[in-house]
Amino acid sequence: MTDIVDPALEAYAAAHTTAPPEHLESLAVEVLTTLDSPHMMVGRLEGRFLEMITFALSATSVLEIGTFGGYSALSMAPGLAPGGRIISCEISAVHAEFARRHIAASPYAEQIDVIEGPALATIRSLPGPFDLVFIDADKVSYLDYFEAVLPKLSPRGLIVADNTLWSGRILDPSDRSEDTEALRVFNDTLATDPRVVVVQATVRDGVTLVRRAP
Ligand SMILES: C[S@@+](CC[C@H](N)C(=O)[O-])C[C@H]1O[C@@H](n2cnc3c(N)ncnc32)[C@H](O)[C@@H]1O
Repeated sequence: MTDIVDPALEAYAAAHTTAPPEHLESLAVEVLTTLDSPHMMVGRLEGRFLEMITFALSATSVLEIGTFGGYSALSMAPGLAPGGRIISCEISAVHAEFARRHIAASPYAEQIDVIEGPALATIRSLPGPFDLVFIDADKVSYLDYFEAVLPKLSPRGLIVADNTLWSGRILDPSDRSEDTEALRVFNDTLATDPRVVVVQATVRDGVTLVRRAP
């Protein structure tokens, strides 16, 4: 595993990012102390990054794929345009319950819905359009999620995919794991897909931003 960004610079950047509100601080503490794999949570820096994207898009319709404890959904919520909503897909009953409890206790209870079940089935049941889609669930399905949401993306919408540099494993030729291979195929496919314009940003674990090609 490799740090994408120098850890000291990453810590400096986080320290110079507006601190999270109290409801996110307490959620993060509970994730760290009670849930498995707490590193899956986007955290302060990427949370604010997602909020900024949501705000810049004036998003009214956001789809999140992979709720976990609700940190990223609750990060995006303050960036929504008035009347905006977030639908978040989560397969784990434990994670869905955790996130719903924290969302209910937050100022954004009316703006976020967590739908429990396999995300692909949920996406197929939703008409869209989505101004922003945040892909952050099982890595082997990233390309399927991309194909499922692209036709439902608003004309000026964005797809944001997390963990696309995969702690540097993406460049390790000895890593042939299913997740790593799937992310390589995802990255390679999008980079040459004429339907979209892509930038792979070195934010945290790699964040790929995608829009429709003109
Ligand atoms: C990396 S975590 C999401 C982190 C979250 N965005 C955050 O920042 O707190 C991935 C989540 O996707 C969920 N997940 C995995 N496979 C899924 C699927 N097929 N459908 C829906 N959710 C899935 C996992 O249970 C896990 O909670």
